[in-house]
Amino acid sequence: MIGFHRDGATLLCDGVPLDRIASAEGTPLYVYSAATIAARYQAIDAAFAGCPHSIHYALKANSTLAIARLLRALGSNADANSSGEIDVAMRAGFAPHQIVFTGVGKTSAELEHAITLGVRSINVESPGEIARVNAISTTRGTRTKIAIRVNPDVDARTHPHISTGLKANKFGIPIADVPDVCRHAQFMDGVQIVGLHAHIGSQITDLTPLANAARALVALAREVGSAGVRIEHLDVGGGLGVSYDGKPVPGAAEYAAAVLPILRESGLTIVLEPGRHIIAPAGALLTRVVDVKEVGGGRFGVGDAADVRSAAEVGGSERAQGAERLFVVMDAGMTELIRPMLYHAFHRIEPLVKSDAPLVSCDVVGPLCESSDTLGKDRMLPRPQVGEFYAVLDTGAYGSVMASNYNRRLLPAEVLVENGTWRVIRRRQTLDDLLALEP
Ligand SMILES: Cc1ncc(COP(=O)(O)O)c(C=O)c1O
Repeated sequence: MIGFHRDGATLLCDGVPLDRIASAEGTPLYVYSAATIAARYQAIDAAFAGCPHSIHYALKANSTLAIARLLRALGSNADANSSGEIDVAMRAGFAPHQIVFTGVGKTSAELEHAITLGVRSINVESPGEIARVNAISTTRGTRTKIAIRVNPDVDARTHPHISTGLKANKFGIPIADVPDVCRHAQFMDGVQIVGLHAHIGSQITDLTPLANAARALVALAREVGSAGVRIEHLDVGGGLGVSYDGKPVPGAAEYAAAVLPILRESGLTIVLEPGRHIIAPAGALLTRVVDVKEVGGGRFGVGDAADVRSAAEVGGSERAQGAERLFVVMDAGMTELIRPMLYHAFHRIEPLVKSDAPLVSCDVVGPLCESSDTLGKDRMLPRPQVGEFYAVLDTGAYGSVMASNYNRRLLPAEVLVENGTWRVIRRRQTLDDLLALEP
């Protein structure tokens, strides 16, 4: 069995007990399953096998070097969203022609970097950006390949903060304007339009909007093609969701079945930029209970170190009469995983070793000085005890990449489980690392 699974009471990653990893490496800790990453990458590749395609893994979801290298070894290309991600892609071994450069606010320095390297395509977001690419390229005597990011005005039916394909969103060029923009750009010396691109949002579990966006791209390619613009590829972005609560959601095969019949009509190469779908279920954040507070029942509400010890000792007993809330305070919070606070995202939270303590309703919170620092509300857990390890599941995407040093907390370590063992792929940050920037 691959990924995160239970053998009796114990949670494992690719067969390795997670409590062993947590004890050896400490917490908070991100753990990734190499086998899951490979299986999910290969599932997308196989689903699109009936059509010329290339997968550009979206580094923004998780760009830890070892993960980028693993995906490159599997045959993936890269989607970079900043100069930093371009450089990470290069360090991971991707060649410039394997990189597409996306992003809504590329600076001139970033454009210059991408143009000098000669990336596969710059996915341009506005007529202004096309003009900037053209100016830089003509100065350098080169012609840069661009794909026009189209805003198709399609509702992705996902969380508003991760919806990008509506005309109210800041992304791309409104679809109605694209033919004119192409006609104009076609005659610029410094750009060559090679693609049309649309990314309508993330965590999409309803395939209809993705099919609608694909249909809009194909129709647009036909229209600009008949005006003499020679498109080589359609870039359908990323966005395919995952199940965070265990309920079924469409997978790569269903996604391909919904969009391929539409895309194939174009006769063009299909570029995909999946991030979350590959990496989210391949990662878990391990954390440890630092305190258990019962508010309203009075037993553990306030106290000194001795009280905390006694809370741990009686942790397996029944919940105190009249308790209003049981707060389980973890050593990980919004600094390690901001998704629950930023998007009200749900993540399953499970003990690494399940006890047979009675189930109690808990608010699982982090240690930060923010009331929003809650990883999960009203979770039924075997009554937690100080010192126990927990996993916050499906946190491989938009987890470690969004970690911060708020409260001067140090970035967590990351490990990759591979071939029955694990290795540290990013060491825990030290205070010296953090303060090295400050004279
Ligand atoms: C342009 C672009 N491509 C790809 C992605 C990856 O999306 P996801 O992780 O949902 O697959 C994103 C994420 O926001 C994006 O903005």
